[in-house]
Amino acid sequence: MKKKIAIVGVTGSVGQEFVLSLENHPWFEVTQIAASERSAGKKFVEAIRDPNSGIVSWEVGSEIPNYIKEMTVKNIDEIDASQLDLVFSAVESVAARDIETKFAKDVPVISTSSAYRYEEDVPILIPGVNDELAELLEVQKKNRNWKGWVAPLPNCTTTGLAITLKPLFEKYGVKKVLMTSMQAISGAGRSPGLGAMNITDNIIPYIPKEEEKVRKETRKILGKLKDGKIEDADIKVSCTCTRVPVIDGHTESVFVETNKDIDPEKAKELYNNYNQKISVAGLPSAPEKYYAFHEDPTRPQPRMEREVGDGMTTTIGRVEKEELFDHGLKYMLFSHNKKMGSAKGAVLLAEMLYKKGKI
Ligand SMILES: NC(=O)c1ccc[n+]([C@@H]2O[C@H](COP(=O)([O-])OP(=O)(O)OC[C@H]3O[C@@H](n4cnc5c(N)ncnc54)[C@H](OP(=O)(O)O)[C@@H]3O)[C@@H](O)[C@H]2O)c1
Repeated sequence: MKKKIAIVGVTGSVGQEFVLSLENHPWFEVTQIAASERSAGKKFVEAIRDPNSGIVSWEVGSEIPNYIKEMTVKNIDEIDASQLDLVFSAVESVAARDIETKFAKDVPVISTSSAYRYEEDVPILIPGVNDELAELLEVQKKNRNWKGWVAPLPNCTTTGLAITLKPLFEKYGVKKVLMTSMQAISGAGRSPGLGAMNITDNIIPYIPKEEEKVRKETRKILGKLKDGKIEDADIKVSCTCTRVPVIDGHTESVFVETNKDIDPEKAKELYNNYNQKISVAGLPSAPEKYYAFHEDPTRPQPRMEREVGDGMTTTIGRVEKEELFDHGLKYMLFSHNKKMGSAKGAVLLAEMLYKKGKI
């Protein structure tokens, strides 16, 4: 019997990607869907129709999966948690706080929002990077007297950075990180989203709260579980987050100061070795290669990388020794914000937690 799943925030950018990621899933079946009052009571295909233009606003592929087209979108109070094994939450963080609390009392919640990320008994999980921190979910459950828990993913800009830092951190030690992001339009979501006139032929040099999220989350993700708490990794992180006219996928320029000597050859070997021993290998949503390492200086490019591993592979390129530091590297990365960075990454997380017996 497949596990019964609800998607909350199903009409949004990330919600739609969940719909696609869960189509014909071998272990999970979407049985209930919800969004705001605006969409409640409508069939999915009508709920995503833009009320002004009349256009069906399906953002994530060639065709809407048949299983969802005619499913009725509920409002939050109509969702029957007693009939669920797991909730995926893809709602903006202020609304998500109450929604996730309500469901976690009865059932596990995997969230793409920031509502719970910074609480002491909540890990920020990236499957394949810090699976061991999932043990904190038991502490959370006990602390709060819940039957479920909330397991958030990071902000989609943190995801690629933390994924690429993890092997460096483990083997070479990471002291300082400087990052500039070039983030996709879809990362801003559908409502209110970004007006076409703001982003076409333009770069927006500021994304509210993003830089603080990257700083805090990177340290927590690479932290260690000690006495029922996460001890943050001792890394200094500084970043500038920008929005660019790319539809899907975030590109980031990274400078890292390491404790030990590193060069591009050693980095290549490191990521290739990591590919061999990645914990999530073989799970239904895992890519064949977790990391793609390019020596061609014209990679990564969003248009070339976003389909690799169905958006679940993190690409690294332009790797050079950075002479500003005693030891260090500079590189560019590409990470798909709606695949590994949110919906499909959340499904991979669910698969990992299911295998651990937590769902
Ligand atoms: N976009 C990305 O690449 C990305 C990546 C990582 C994380 N995230 C996070 O994922 C979450 C969703 O982002 P998004 O980009 O998908 O946003 P979005 O496109 O604006 O979609 C928001 C969804 O939440 C629903 N919603 C809003 N208020 C609600 C309420 N009070 N009760 C129930 N449902 C409500 C909306 O329903 P209606 O359609 O009915 O209004 C819609 O389904 C956010 O927390 C965001 O920070 C986004």
